[in-house]
Amino acid sequence: MIISCANEKGGTGKTSTTALISWELSNMGYKVLMVDCDPQANLTDLMIKTKSHENSSITIDPSLFALLINGKDLNDGIINIKNGLDLIPAAADMNLFSRWVDKQDIDEKAKVSYLKNSLSNISSKFDFVFLDVSPTMSLTNDNVFMCCDWIIVMLQTQQRALLGAKSFLSYLQTNLIDEFGAKVDVAGILPVLTKGQSIIDNAVLKQAVEEFGEDNIFENVITAMERVKRYDLTGITESSRSVWDKATHSTYTAVATELISRLEAE
Ligand SMILES: Nc1ncnc2c1ncn2[C@@H]1O[C@H](COP(=O)(O)OP(=O)(O)O)[C@@H](O)[C@H]1O
Ligand SMILES: [Mg+2]
Repeated sequence: MIISCANEKGGTGKTSTTALISWELSNMGYKVLMVDCDPQANLTDLMIKTKSHENSSITIDPSLFALLINGKDLNDGIINIKNGLDLIPAAADMNLFSRWVDKQDIDEKAKVSYLKNSLSNISSKFDFVFLDVSPTMSLTNDNVFMCCDWIIVMLQTQQRALLGAKSFLSYLQTNLIDEFGAKVDVAGILPVLTKGQSIIDNAVLKQAVEEFGEDNIFENVITAMERVKRYDLTGITESSRSVWDKATHSTYTAVATELISRLEAE
């Protein structure tokens, strides 16, 4: 199962959600690989901080971009984060991928399928592969979505978020599914609530139900939690003595569990 949490906007919780759902799935005993495809490398930073509680000497070499352009086996880039959870890190050089792949002397379909081909020999070793993306419509992200079996559409409950989700879905349909036969499907729309805005949250959720149908929206939503922001600084922690860690992990565990049942139902 290759999955991406996506949305055309930045700051909607894609990276945090990718990291925490992956974390919870690995806690459940699944083998999970995260691939950071965002040149900003936020997922890489978060995971290096998480791991460096134990070991502070981690260098990102080779980066995903270096592996891709040199035709290397992506296995060579895997860093183990914890039991059942691996990462292929990104660095700023991932910015160059769109231009590089566009310059290759291959047809359009091969240009959008480059990452998919590179990933194909390792994805079968994992139960879940999560690809983290930047908030752009680019050849890099086209490559990511071509790889995906499933997309989780992150819906921040703000005005205009619905328009963003709709235009993102129509982009996928027109540019990747119709044009290149991508097999990607939507696992669900995952609401991300804004702190202290329950009236607006509820209004947007109601519109989303009308627009996409109740069945397409996750029952478990992501609430605003200070602890998730703190993980940006400390890395992910999971102390049995901390009520905040417990509350945070139980929120994402519920989402991960629902994700599995949604995929099984398809
Ligand atoms: N559930 C949450 N509660 C509070 N803050 C969150 C939550 N999820 C993400 N954030 C914070 O919001 C910011 C943007 O999240 P991030 O996952 O980086 O979004 P994206 O990848 O879509 O740009 C980060 O500072 C992150 O810590
Ligand atoms: Mg991100």
